[in-house]
Amino acid sequence: MKKYCIVGAGSRGISMFGEDLVSHYRDVAQLTGICDVNPGRVAYATKRLGGEVRGFTDFDHMLDQVPCDVVIVTTKDATHDAYIIKAMRRGKEVITEKPMTTDAEKCRRILAAERETGQPLRVTFNYRYAPYKTEIKRLLGEGIVGEVHSVEFRWFLDTVHGADYFRRWHGQKRNSGGLLVHKATHHFDLINWWLDREPQEVVAMGSRQYYTPARKPGHGTRCSECQISQDCEFYLDLSAHSDLHALYQENEHYDHYYRDGCVFSEDIDIEDTMSALVRYPDNIQLTYALTAATSFEGWQVAFNGSLGRLEAFEPECFVPDGEVRRFSDRSASAHRRSVDWRAVTASSLKDPIEALSINFYPLFGGMKTFSVPHQRQGHGGGDRRLKDHLFRGVEDDPLGHAAGSRAGAMSILIGVAANQSMAEGRMVRIEDLLKG
Ligand SMILES: NC(=O)c1ccc[n+]([C@@H]2O[C@H](COP(=O)([O-])OP(=O)(O)OC[C@H]3O[C@@H](n4cnc5c(N)ncnc54)[C@H](O)[C@@H]3O)[C@@H](O)[C@H]2O)c1
Repeated sequence: MKKYCIVGAGSRGISMFGEDLVSHYRDVAQLTGICDVNPGRVAYATKRLGGEVRGFTDFDHMLDQVPCDVVIVTTKDATHDAYIIKAMRRGKEVITEKPMTTDAEKCRRILAAERETGQPLRVTFNYRYAPYKTEIKRLLGEGIVGEVHSVEFRWFLDTVHGADYFRRWHGQKRNSGGLLVHKATHHFDLINWWLDREPQEVVAMGSRQYYTPARKPGHGTRCSECQISQDCEFYLDLSAHSDLHALYQENEHYDHYYRDGCVFSEDIDIEDTMSALVRYPDNIQLTYALTAATSFEGWQVAFNGSLGRLEAFEPECFVPDGEVRRFSDRSASAHRRSVDWRAVTASSLKDPIEALSINFYPLFGGMKTFSVPHQRQGHGGGDRRLKDHLFRGVEDDPLGHAAGSRAGAMSILIGVAANQSMAEGRMVRIEDLLKG
């Protein structure tokens, strides 16, 4: 039975991996240790995961003390590289949360360590495993659009989920690489995978347009100490959320990681509105846009090719009532409904989504629709399938769902190139980032 250790006892370490390893995958996997720099979160994690998992605040000490074949990295993004490389050098396989890392130099170091040690690295691109996204891959693989000429991709984050990136460590590029790395790594990976090609050149624009200090004069540094919190649409009361309270608020005195940071803070340096143009081999052009302050959440993609256009659209969340202004109400699942927001009218809320469609428009007329049952569970049904793949293994992987370091690198390097393009006002080549 394979033995696993987790580094990063935050939300993802505990709920995505820890809890399932000690229950759902108990027959094939054993979680032996969990580590974090915050001793309070380590104590919370070991309690929640049951008595057999040992807790540590030092990674090397954990690997000295407990048996381990595979290390799972779920720390904040900019620290992934250090643990990935250390684990490989200690002869461990590694599974890392996305983004694989946050800049080109760290990326090159990871790729070099993998070459030196021969230890495999898996990147947890859960979205690939969602049935709807898998169906797009299958259709493109069958050549439905012919030669692909261009791709249009748009992702919308609502004022619940989108705002959350501005509350905590994600709000600084030194921690997350910004949303073009932290968030868009998912999107760029999907496009690279769907197209089965690696990106060549990137040009981008981005700015912070909504979550700006000027929008909320008099704001504090965090909700719990803010003078105007009662009038703020983003007021988060940690004590009212038992999980957030136990995981973060109770342990903030150790490391000053405040889970309710102000989304309008002066020290945020990430963008909320971004767009990029990416060139792929065969002159395929991607136009990409990411917006972190919309009233709904979801994404749209279209592939234009020599035989026609394939369109997919997945609405994820929508708050139908414009009067729901308080954050706690807006974020409640009773309000964040899975409906097709294009079909909602001012006076009606349409039915919850049962199936998602993919439409193909042949070049000379007509239309064909493919339907995929809608999956509401973690990341469009991707989380469970990814974990089954990681922990139980599969006989074969015809569509190439498993993602390694190359996919991890190619997806973040588009974001890294986009950041550089924004800073320098020029086109950036991925090849140059790989060479250093
Ligand atoms: N695949 C997905 O869909 C998905 C979803 C959410 C988060 N994530 C990724 O999972 C990772 C964790 O995210 P989260 O939401 O659990 O964040 P979190 O803030 O809840 O947890 C991060 C943990 O890392 C710890 N940490 C910070 N620096 C550390 C260091 N140097 N050494 C050891 N521990 C350190 C923190 O104390 C914290 O417990 C991130 O990389 C994030 O991008 C992926």
